[in-house]
Amino acid sequence: MRILVTGGAGYVGSVTVERLLAAGHAVWVLDDVSTGHAAAVPREATLTVASYTDEDRVTRLLVDNSIEAILHCAARSLVGESIREPSIYYRANVVGGVALLEAARRAGVGRIVFSSTAAVYGIPATTPITEAAPLDPINPYGETKRTFEVAMRWYGAAYGLRSISLRYFNVAGASERNGEDHDPETHLIPTILGAAASGQPMALFGDDYPTPDGTPIRDYIHVEDLANAHELALAATGVPLEPGTPPAVSLNLGTGTGFSVRDVIGAAEAAVGRPIPYSTGPRRAGDPPILVASAERARELLGWTPRRGSLAEMIGSAWRWRQAHPGGYGETR
Ligand code: UFG
Repeated sequence: MRILVTGGAGYVGSVTVERLLAAGHAVWVLDDVSTGHAAAVPREATLTVASYTDEDRVTRLLVDNSIEAILHCAARSLVGESIREPSIYYRANVVGGVALLEAARRAGVGRIVFSSTAAVYGIPATTPITEAAPLDPINPYGETKRTFEVAMRWYGAAYGLRSISLRYFNVAGASERNGEDHDPETHLIPTILGAAASGQPMALFGDDYPTPDGTPIRDYIHVEDLANAHELALAATGVPLEPGTPPAVSLNLGTGTGFSVRDVIGAAEAAVGRPIPYSTGPRRAGDPPILVASAERARELLGWTPRRGSLAEMIGSAWRWRQAHPGGYGETR
């Protein structure tokens, strides 16, 4: 298949590009490298440094390269930033996203897979979370992702767009080639590994949650398992998933197993072979106590199974990548 990946220079996007290339697809990457890295894009993919929000340019890119399906990973994705600057999130994730949908419509591209998030659920009443749980995001990040999912549903009903929204839980780990290099870094595992490397204590955000050890529980999923799910989802946009399936489908991607922040710190200590320096501070605003996926629907509809669900594998691969790239990505590709 001929696939355009927006955000293909980012963390999830670049590992997915690797997977798509390995499966024999032809891949074009569209990324403005504002948060991604050109060096993360394998040479076998064609990189265009531009924004997916530029409708005319994207239309030309789609037409000129006879693109058959879009994987839309590009977005603004920091919860805290979204609360401070909702304008950035609505412009990029909603207005920009609709420009991409319009480009697809003009170019006659009718298949799209979208990077959505568990943040669409807000603070869920029950766990594990199924796709039937109410959508009640508690920040503009989750709200804008939900809005775009709904836009794709209406485009499906009216224009025949076939879309699959993949609601990621907590993505972790690295491939051999690509890993996590954010500035600023806010995610737990790279922050822990940063503390291990520097010896500077990290902050544990609250130990008074209603969980067995008092720290929040999350469902961590290996980025390579996530990449496989994208490949399956792209294939699945070609045909109805099962009789009567609507053109727009949303699927949770997690392993169904929850680990606390203390579990993750313990696993990281085992992986790096030394204690992680940390201090316990107050809660971070907007952190739900428990987010664990039911990923049954993705298993049923895509035939997807996460294979690298242990913390040891996720943290071990992230640590190996970090040691191989102590300064993150360089400037060269
Ligand atoms: N945490 C710390 N210290 C840190 C960083 C994180 O204690 O320095 C804790 C957080 O309080 C949270 C847990 O580690 O309890 C995980 O935090 P992350 O920032 O790694 O991830 P989040 O669960 O906040 O968010 C991630 C994605 C979101 C997505 C969400 C859905 O970043 O985009 O998972 O599960 F919506």
